[in-house]
Amino acid sequence: MKKIKIYQLPLFLAVVLFITGSCKKDLGSSSSLYTPTTADVTATATLAQLQQGRALYSSNCNSCHGLYMPENYNPTQWGSILNSMAPRTGMSSSQVLLVSKYVTKGK
Ligand code: HEC
Repeated sequence: MKKIKIYQLPLFLAVVLFITGSCKKDLGSSSSLYTPTTADVTATATLAQLQQGRALYSSNCNSCHGLYMPENYNPTQWGSILNSMAPRTGMSSSQVLLVSKYVTKGK
C-alpha cells in the first residue's frame, strides 16, 4: 500500500467511514427482527419453532456480519443463503431447519 500523506488522512478516513457505513445500512440489530406471534404459525412451523429459530438466528448468524432481515429475501433465496452460510456456523442440521422456518416464516 502506498504511504498516505498527512494531508490525505482526513479524506482517507472519510472514505473508510463512508464505505463501512454504507455496508451496514441494510443490517439490523436483533431488536428489529420480527418477533413471531400466533399469526406467523403455518402448517410447517409452530410458534415454539419460530421462537427457537429466531433465537438461533440472532445468536449464530451475526459473528461475521449483522443480521439480515428475513423479509429482504424470498424463501428460495434463503434456501441457497442457508446452504452457504450454515456450514460457517456450528449449528446442527435440526437447528438450521429452525432458522430456516424463522427466516422464511414457515415456507
Ligand atoms: C464465518 C462468517 C459467517 C457466518 C458465521 C455467517 N455468515 Fe453470512 N456472510 C458471510 C460473508 C463473508 C458474506 C458475504 C458474501 C458471501 O461470502 O457469500 C455473507 C453474506 C450473507 C448474506 C447476504 C447474501 C446476499 O447475497 O445478499 C446473508 C443473507 C447471510 N450472510 C446470512 C447468514 C446467515 C443466515 C448466517 C447463519 C446461518 C450467516 N450468514 C452466518 C460470512 C458469514
